[in-house]
Amino acid sequence: MAKPSHATWGGRFTAGPAELMLQFSESVSFDRRLAPFDIAGSKAHSAMLAHTGLITAKERDAIHAGLDAIHAEIVAGKFTWDTKLEDVHMNIEQALTKRVPAAAKLHTARSRNDQIATDMRLFFKHACAVLAEKILGAERALLAVAEANRDVLIPGYTHLQRAQPVFLSHHLFAWLEMLDRDRARFAEVAAHANWCPLGSGAIAGTTLPIDREFTAKALGFTDAKGRPQVTQNSMDTVADRDLFIEFASACALFGVHISRIAEDLILWSSAEFKFVELPDAFCTGSSLMPQKKNPDSCELLRGKSARLQGNLHTLLTLAKGLPLTYNRDLQEDKPPVFDSFDQTAICADVLAGTLGGMEVISERCAAAVADPALLATDLADYLVLKGVAFRDAHHAVGAVVRLAEKKAVALNELSFADVQGVHAAFAEDWIEVFDLKRALAKREGTGMPGPKQVAKQFARWRKALK
Ligand code: ARG
Repeated sequence: MAKPSHATWGGRFTAGPAELMLQFSESVSFDRRLAPFDIAGSKAHSAMLAHTGLITAKERDAIHAGLDAIHAEIVAGKFTWDTKLEDVHMNIEQALTKRVPAAAKLHTARSRNDQIATDMRLFFKHACAVLAEKILGAERALLAVAEANRDVLIPGYTHLQRAQPVFLSHHLFAWLEMLDRDRARFAEVAAHANWCPLGSGAIAGTTLPIDREFTAKALGFTDAKGRPQVTQNSMDTVADRDLFIEFASACALFGVHISRIAEDLILWSSAEFKFVELPDAFCTGSSLMPQKKNPDSCELLRGKSARLQGNLHTLLTLAKGLPLTYNRDLQEDKPPVFDSFDQTAICADVLAGTLGGMEVISERCAAAVADPALLATDLADYLVLKGVAFRDAHHAVGAVVRLAEKKAVALNELSFADVQGVHAAFAEDWIEVFDLKRALAKREGTGMPGPKQVAKQFARWRKALK
């Protein structure tokens, strides 16, 4: 027989939950990390209750002192969490009630439904700030690699086939664009989180005289002008999990980006490319093959991105069939969010560390980019400037490439007579096309890899990442 219920909600029960049910339904094992936000919420809520006269100033002060003491114990690792008390909210409230009689009034005009919504909005604001800072760290590491290798050219690839020459920094700046969008995305999620749920109650607010704006202000849910921002529909407030999905989505998209970066690095560090040497500190060896140095940090960045996508999928599926408003299913919303946060945070740090210790092997880059076929498009453009229609020029250069292949020589080793034989528009100066420096210098439109453009991007990123 189960024991009578002592839970905060136990009044209408004659028997408490089965052991198995307690084990099944507890969330304190993972939601206890919300304690700092839960305590901040309770302090603001009790301050509001005193402000509107629902509790006395003395009661508020006793509640605040008790909450501060509990917070200190939690930080020191001395607080005893009890899974029988279900979640972080009840653990803290019951500990407080044991010490401070007035704590029995703390839950006035509040439900765990608006409480958890508040805790999580505070969590998201914090988490987004942490992640933005960590991504900034990775961006700075990336800029440093570009700075240290300003003059290095590499082939750019499409279909993983050599396409056209670019500055290495142009390629690295493509990664920077991706990471910078991620950083901006977390700032947007934080802005969406900036609305205070407290006062929505379980579903329909409260009959008691409260001041939602007061609580919002106390918790920093304010706009740029310091005006309080409170959610506008009590039912939506306790049912809404958009933020969870937006946050996990921002993490998942960051995951896609770091996975693509990691894939480039894995290729670049292979013997076949050897454009870079990854730092020993972020690689591992083989237990069998003594010569191996494996790019494990990059492979794990690629692997973790799958996990970040999985978390997003879990949240989308969790929310999709639920009737309004709160349903206990929603307790399952926290593990994927926390996991996405933790994994995104460590991924950003590992990316920064891997980039920070990476060495560019400029001779290998130079050898790869020396392939004259990379300038076949420039040769077609050359014909265009001689008045040939691009389609015809493309065709002619294709024939030149075929001829070089047949003769087993590089494109720029063909004779003038050879190319003249293919198209009469080729003049003696055709060979100048194969000057890499000249070729890059012709690409000075906005966003192109010309040296002046790249210099502009260096200036832009230096300023943005200061
Ligand atoms: N632990 C719960 C959760 O995370 C808190 C809200 C509980 N609300 C309720 N009506 N049982 O969802």
